[in-house]
Amino acid sequence: MRAYDIIYKKRMGEELTPAEIAFLIDGFVTGAVPDYQMSAFAMAICLQGMTARETADLTMAMARSGDIIDLSAIRGRKVDKHSTGGVGDKVSLVLVPLVAACGAPVAKMSGRGLGHTGGTLDKLESVPGMRIERTSDEFIEQVNRIGCAVVGQSGNLVPADKRLYALRDVTATVDSIPLIASSIMSKKIAGGADAIVLDVKTGSGAFMKTLDDAFRLAQAMVDIGRETGREVAAFVSEMDQPLGFAVGNALEVAEAIETLRGFGPKDLEDVCLALGSQMLRLAGVAPDAETARKMLTRALRNGAGLNKLIELVEAQGGDPSYIRQPVKLPRAPKVVPLLAAASGYVQSIEALEIGVAAMMLGAGRETKESVLDLSVGVVLRKKVGDQVEEGEALADLHVGDDSRLAEVKQRLLAAYTIGAPEPPAHPLIYGLVTEAGIERYA
Ligand code: URA
Repeated sequence: MRAYDIIYKKRMGEELTPAEIAFLIDGFVTGAVPDYQMSAFAMAICLQGMTARETADLTMAMARSGDIIDLSAIRGRKVDKHSTGGVGDKVSLVLVPLVAACGAPVAKMSGRGLGHTGGTLDKLESVPGMRIERTSDEFIEQVNRIGCAVVGQSGNLVPADKRLYALRDVTATVDSIPLIASSIMSKKIAGGADAIVLDVKTGSGAFMKTLDDAFRLAQAMVDIGRETGREVAAFVSEMDQPLGFAVGNALEVAEAIETLRGFGPKDLEDVCLALGSQMLRLAGVAPDAETARKMLTRALRNGAGLNKLIELVEAQGGDPSYIRQPVKLPRAPKVVPLLAAASGYVQSIEALEIGVAAMMLGAGRETKESVLDLSVGVVLRKKVGDQVEEGEALADLHVGDDSRLAEVKQRLLAAYTIGAPEPPAHPLIYGLVTEAGIERYA
């Protein structure tokens, strides 16, 4: 077999065999297939696409390029959750304890933030003492004991994806549905999940800018699940503005705690209930999504979810008093309002720009080496559809180092579009794709 022939075959739009796909991925990881051939292969996939079978074979070849975590020692069906990335997306902080409180084991491997997107691990480290490094025995023991754990990725997980993503980033081959679907699903499969709930974001702050593309990506990942024996439920939801109000590490932890107390922002609660319902259904602890939703709502209202977060923090060395009294979380020395320059209705908020602004205040990493200020960020006061008067606060900026404050303010003002007509309400969740088919909510 020759890499050249496989690249040519894909370039001509032909279907590759599992052996051909594995040959390229294995060769790429060992160094036998150089970066330039892999880049050409990625471009051929971008232009010609892949069948569901090829995409599943690519996913499994990538998953097998490194360690595959064995979670079989954890009792029950392990359901993982993944969002394709958003700003202010603190869903995991709410969902992990909430779903565990309802009886489904959650063994979550999370990442750190880079650029404008936040990472669950950074957020959790706002709680002093919190340890996210665990051996795999400790990880498994904790999930069996208290029902959940959140840890950093350990070992050598999907090295093929790490290297391929770096190439895609510089060869204009990121936004290809088979490449994104196989990249995400290979990591979930290597992480040991039996079933997976996905939140595919669409809109200005997302990879998939159009609704049709978002549904296509959701379908591609459900198809991979079907081909590889993992049940997948994929929501398509909006990312035309940040989820909830808070963007920044400790600020998001505080908002997640509010949500677990039952007083969170409605959009955040709605996304958590939707994703959680499918997690409970796929874990087999609820017969259907409707029953699951009732279980989750009860766990929100009676404090079981919040108590589970306290247990999780305690189990990982964190100080639980910070969850009971979130005022103790790191606080920025200054809170500066962002004042509206015009009156009208908020038409849209560029989520990505809000994420970049929070990063510039110190909440996110501009490079891998950046040191975060966990206290800083942006708390929106006005969201899409809200009315605002000139001079009224659109948001509060929680500021430490204020050297870039003027630039941040300018960016944030530009992120808001304010105009005369009241914008039409649009749904937060557009639909759900499962093995049973596509359900469009609007
Ligand atoms: N997220 C991933 O993990 N991979 C992609 O290709 C895109 C988003």
